[in-house]
Amino acid sequence: MEVVILPDGDAVADHAARLVAELVRSRPDAVLGVATGSSPVGIYRRLAAAVDAGELSFARAAAFALDEYAGLPPEDPHSYAAYIAGHVTGPLGLDPARVHVPDGNAADLAAAGAAYEAAIAGAGGVDLQILGIGANGHIGFNEPSSSFASRTRVKALTRQTREDNARFFGSLADVPTHCLTQGLGTIMDARRIVLVAQGSHKAAAVAGAAEGPVTAMCPASVLQFHPDAVLVVDEAAAAQLTLTDYYRTAYEADHAKRGTHGFPPQ
Ligand code: GLP
Repeated sequence: MEVVILPDGDAVADHAARLVAELVRSRPDAVLGVATGSSPVGIYRRLAAAVDAGELSFARAAAFALDEYAGLPPEDPHSYAAYIAGHVTGPLGLDPARVHVPDGNAADLAAAGAAYEAAIAGAGGVDLQILGIGANGHIGFNEPSSSFASRTRVKALTRQTREDNARFFGSLADVPTHCLTQGLGTIMDARRIVLVAQGSHKAAAVAGAAEGPVTAMCPASVLQFHPDAVLVVDEAAAAQLTLTDYYRTAYEADHAKRGTHGFPPQ
């Protein structure tokens, strides 16, 4: 696992956006895994600006969202379908026919999960998965105790996650209790993982993800088994890591000196 510690959220978004842009430039029909929440917003803004400037095109790319609230139709402004439409599909100029969000409003959620797995496989799998991380270490909506072998399925949300996400809704009571989320096994099938985290409220989760132990109590710790996972974090989110000197030295050697950091890529 590569851990990149950068000064602030802007630098985190710059670096992660660069990784996405480099992929799409080398492979215009790339399949992206797209996260929701506040963490990746800066990535999407930078990519959209590059598209607007004519420096990048997602016209041939495809995207799969990680998760959706159960019981929310795509028209609901709180749905992740609405988030993806507003932050990803439109701004990046993706073909809506190639953008997929789990159908959390399906009558048969188990069947919808299986159909989502089939759609990802049918697209050839995810090339690069963008991830945020919950304060309790969840990725997607895979809450603590999730199976490392799990596939897209219904999950109950923890109270902490519902409280954390209540800021997007009117009140805690309005936050759905369940979701349809890619499993940890689904996420681990992505060929590359780029996880971004900003802020001190993510520090414990980031330390658990990067430095373990590997445990279902911190679902993101499964990424230690991934052959190409990058954690891009700001100083506040890095505060509980122990190997920070090592990560900084490795980053300087691998990126900063060669100028392969920041956004946009040259
Ligand atoms: C949400 C989403 C995750 C997201 C995480 C952190 O509930 N299901 O995909 O990464 O929690 O959210 P935020 O980036 O807003 O802190």
